[in-house]
Amino acid sequence: MIQTAVADPPDPALLLRPLRDDLADRAFLARGLSDPRLLEWYHGRDDPLDEARVAEEYGPLARGESPTRGFLAEEGGAPVGYFQCYPLEAWPETRSLVPDAAGAWGIDYWLLPGRWHRGLSPRMIESMVRHLFEERGAARVVSDPRADNPRSVRALEKAGFRRVRVLPAHERHEGAMRDCVLMERVRR
Ligand SMILES: CC(C)(COP(=O)(O)OP(=O)(O)OC[C@H]1O[C@@H](n2cnc3c(N)ncnc32)[C@H](O)[C@@H]1OP(=O)(O)O)[C@@H](O)C(=O)NCCC(=O)NCCS
Repeated sequence: MIQTAVADPPDPALLLRPLRDDLADRAFLARGLSDPRLLEWYHGRDDPLDEARVAEEYGPLARGESPTRGFLAEEGGAPVGYFQCYPLEAWPETRSLVPDAAGAWGIDYWLLPGRWHRGLSPRMIESMVRHLFEERGAARVVSDPRADNPRSVRALEKAGFRRVRVLPAHERHEGAMRDCVLMERVRR
């Protein structure tokens, strides 16, 4: 499980640590996932999450009952974002993203809007990829940002991902099917 300072060399102020099944983590997720500036890019402004919905959707992850693993990103001891990873084979909708899903992991992530544009997420993505390669035996890590989300595409590129292909009408977002971009980083 990641519980580590982020970046190389490690920056002691940055940490990814497992999501906890407690009030503080639920309140943090509800704060992010009810903010329209974030929801525009993640989850959708038509479906904000309060703490009860967070408990429903993220409780199983926090208790280790889901194949998806959740992590809070912390900066200087304060939560600033959320990262998750999952084996592609675990979910029907991700199994066919790559020709051979065995050993392939997917990642998703967000930061609170006040923390954008400071280069935090590329360093955190890098740390998560290293964890998946070195401790979970991943052969490749993929992500599927929306094609109209240049910040996320760029953050992945800065973390060493390359564009593989466009995924047409791949994700339902705010009532419409949106194109996404499959991006991957392969273990050398
Ligand atoms: C995506 C996200 C995690 C990026 O994290 P971040 O720490 O802000 O990333 P960075 O600081 O590296 O900035 C992103 C890059 O995008 C670039 N960028 C920003 N707006 C852009 C635009 N409109 N067009 C092109 N590039 C843009 C920035 O210039 C920066 O690249 P640079 O350092 O080469 O200049 C963060 O913006 C976020 O949480 N967004 C909302 C949720 C989300 O989109 N999650 C991903 C879902 S797949």
